[in-house]
Amino acid sequence: MKKILITGSNGLLGQSIQAVFKRESEFELYPTSVEEKSDISNSLNYRKLDTTKRDDVKKIVREISPDVIINCAAYTDVDGCETHKEQCWKLNVEAVNNLITAGRTANARIIHYSTDYVFDGKNGPYREEDKTNPVSYYGRSKLASENALKTGGLDYTIIRTMVLYGTGINVKPNFALWLISKLSKNEQVNIVDDQTGNYTVAEDLAYGTLKIIEKNCTGLYNIAGSDIISRYDFAVKLCDVFRFDKELIKKIKTADLNQPAVRPLNSGLIILKAQTELGFTPMDTTEGLQYLSKMLGKI
Ligand SMILES: NC(=O)c1ccc[n+]([C@@H]2O[C@H](COP(=O)([O-])OP(=O)(O)OC[C@H]3O[C@@H](n4cnc5c(N)ncnc54)[C@H](OP(=O)(O)O)[C@@H]3O)[C@@H](O)[C@H]2O)c1
Repeated sequence: MKKILITGSNGLLGQSIQAVFKRESEFELYPTSVEEKSDISNSLNYRKLDTTKRDDVKKIVREISPDVIINCAAYTDVDGCETHKEQCWKLNVEAVNNLITAGRTANARIIHYSTDYVFDGKNGPYREEDKTNPVSYYGRSKLASENALKTGGLDYTIIRTMVLYGTGINVKPNFALWLISKLSKNEQVNIVDDQTGNYTVAEDLAYGTLKIIEKNCTGLYNIAGSDIISRYDFAVKLCDVFRFDKELIKKIKTADLNQPAVRPLNSGLIILKAQTELGFTPMDTTEGLQYLSKMLGKI
């Protein structure tokens, strides 16, 4: 039975991977994250692991001897990366190097997540082989992590995704959860209509990851929601599914937000390669939001 070491297991994707893999596979899971305890109470194999600590990474990888390392740990605050460059690089690049070094000695393969922020957003949507040109520090750090894997001397899969959403225990507010929290209180939200892309249910990405492992796919894959729309249109669809008042959504432009990090505007990921090779199509926006509404009913 394959042993799977998960880093950043308390995050949104880390929790979704545990849920989907427990349901759909026989793999032995070894979740790890930076906190003392697992946010998922029944994670018996949980261990604390800060991936920026090279010796700790080596020790745990040696002890577990995993077949696969799934790296869900990352510095995901895009604006925070502009002001905390050192921390961002440490977690998004140096920690990946720690996993590569340890993974090589254990003969493990690594699955790592990247983003559409490796592109400039001038002419999306993008295929796997399109030319990268990050316009933010977060994007630069994620591209550097991709390059580290490409030259790391072990089997790897890089999965690019965008705008993850879903729910879990103590997860940071994502775009969908933030909209729900505001609109359910009848508060107005200002949403940009000049950023387009895919919106990805975390459990879909987890399922795609499972297929990648089962089919032994290596290299680079885009896995994201199956339609490409603006943030504004996503918010409108969310109102349709959750029966919120659409009048609460005010259309604005990205420039109005004055955010520290530049965003790729005309973005999006073409998922044809994953659909063809993995035999799976992630949910589109309406299906994803209906799924989220069911999940929220459960929690
Ligand atoms: N979220 C998106 O929209 C999006 C889009 C494209 C790509 N991605 C990529 O998808 C992956 C998963 O993202 P996500 O949304 O699941 O992120 P997330 O919810 O922020 O989860 C990251 C997890 O890593 C943990 N962590 C922080 N520092 C760590 C350390 N030094 N060692 C080990 N764990 C540490 C975090 O703990 P704390 O919460 O305590 O910091 C958190 O539990 C990332 O590679 C991200 O770049 C995400």
